[in-house]
Amino acid sequence: MNPVKLTDDIFWIGVNDTSTKLFEGLWSIEKEGISYNSYLIKDEKSTLIDLCKDIKGELLIEHIKDRIDPSQLHYLVINHMEPDHSGAIMQLLEIAPQITILGSAKTREMLEAFFGIREHVQVITDGETISLGAHTLHFLSTPMVHWPETIMTFEEKNGILFSCDGFGGYGVLEKSIFDDEQDDLDYYVHEALRYFSNIVCAFSKPVLKAAEKITPLNVKMVAPSHGLVWRADPQRILNLYIQWSEYAGGHAPKRVCLLHGSMYGISARVIPSIEQGLKKVGIPFSSFDVGETHISYILPALWESAGVVICAPTYEGGLFPSMEFVLEMADKKRMSDKKAIYVGSYGWGGGAMRFINKQSEVLNWDLLGKAEFNVQALPEDLEKIEALSTTLARSL
Ligand SMILES: Cc1cc2nc3c(=O)[nH]c(=O)nc-3n(C[C@H](O)[C@H](O)[C@H](O)COP(=O)(O)O)c2cc1C
Ligand SMILES: [Fe+2]
Ligand SMILES: [Fe+2]
Repeated sequence: MNPVKLTDDIFWIGVNDTSTKLFEGLWSIEKEGISYNSYLIKDEKSTLIDLCKDIKGELLIEHIKDRIDPSQLHYLVINHMEPDHSGAIMQLLEIAPQITILGSAKTREMLEAFFGIREHVQVITDGETISLGAHTLHFLSTPMVHWPETIMTFEEKNGILFSCDGFGGYGVLEKSIFDDEQDDLDYYVHEALRYFSNIVCAFSKPVLKAAEKITPLNVKMVAPSHGLVWRADPQRILNLYIQWSEYAGGHAPKRVCLLHGSMYGISARVIPSIEQGLKKVGIPFSSFDVGETHISYILPALWESAGVVICAPTYEGGLFPSMEFVLEMADKKRMSDKKAIYVGSYGWGGGAMRFINKQSEVLNWDLLGKAEFNVQALPEDLEKIEALSTTLARSL
C-alpha cells in the first residue's frame, strides 16, 4: 500500500505487517495481519506521527522519502512507546538526525530505557498545543490507552484525531485505508472488537476517560495507528469503543459464551443438552472449543457475554489445562462479574471444581451451579445440565 492523502498535506505513510503471526507474541493475526499506521504532516515544521515495528522500518523509510526530504522533518510525535510504533526509531534517526521527538514525560524516560535516546526530546503536557505553521497539534494525555505514557494527538485544522492504539483494530489495509471505501466494513468492526478484547479491554476505564476528553473536540476523522481511518463516520468507532468499554464490571450483553474442551470427547457429548437448555430461553450464545480455538478469538465473545458455560473435564487433579488458560486470561483481561455454570466429566477423584471455585472467586463470577459426572453423563445428568443451562440463561 503506497502513501495515501488524508488531506492535501497530511498523509498516511503506514505499513502492513503480514509476517508477524502472533501480535505481542500472543495474539493470532496470522490470517488477518495488522497495519502500523504512521502519518506525515507537511508544513513549515513537518511532522511524523508514530512509526512502526522494526521489521517494517525499511518500507516506512521508503514511504517517508517518497513524500519528503528527511532533512526537512522537524518533529516526531510518539503517542505510544510500544515497539509496534517506536521500533523503527533508530532507522529514522539515521536519515533524520535533526528531528525533535515529542512525547509525554514518561515517554522521555522510556526513550532512554528502550533505545538509549536522551537528546532532541521535548516533553509535552496534557492540553498543550504546538504550531507547525498552518497546522496546530493539540496533545491529550490518555494514560493506559494502552501504556502509562500514552497520549493522543489532535490536529485542529482538519479535526483529525491521531489516537494510536485507541480506536484501532487488527487487519491489514488492502484496497483502501478509509471506512467509506470498504466492501466489508463489518470485518474491520469485528477485528476492532478482537483487538479491543485482546489489548485494550483491561483498560476500559481509561478508554472512557479518553473518550470524555475527546468529546468537546469536534473530531472529523479518527486516524488510529492500527486498522482503518474513519473519515466518513468517525463517531462509529468512537461509540463502539465506548460501548465495549462500558461492558466492564458486569455490564456485558445478555449473551452466553459456551466454552468447551475435551480430551476424548466425553464431556463434549453433553453440549447438545447445554444448547437445548439455552435455546429454551432464546438467549443468543456462541460456542468455542478452547483446545482448537486461539484465545484471541475467544476473548471478544467472552467480553460480550454476561453468562458463561464452562464445559471441560478434570485433568490431573485440576481443570482441563486449555480451559484453565482461558479462565486465567479472562482474569488478566479483567472480564469480571459474570454468571457461570460448570459441567464436566471426571474419571476417579475429580478435582476440576477446585480450580473452578478458586477462579470464580478471582473473577468475581457468580457460579450458579455445577454438574459433574463420573465419565459418562447419565440421562439424569443430561437433564440436570439442561436445567442448569436454562437457569443460567434465565438469570441474565
Ligand atoms: C491425562 C489425563 C489426566 C486425568 N486426570 C484425572 C484426575 O486427576 N482426576 C480424575 O478424576 N480424572 C482424571 N482424568 C480422567 C478424565 O477426567 C475422564 O476420563 C473424563 O471422562 C475425560 O473427559 P473428556 O473426554 O471430555 O476429556 C484424566 C484423564 C486424562 C487423559
Ligand atoms: Fe500498545
Ligand atoms: Fe499498538
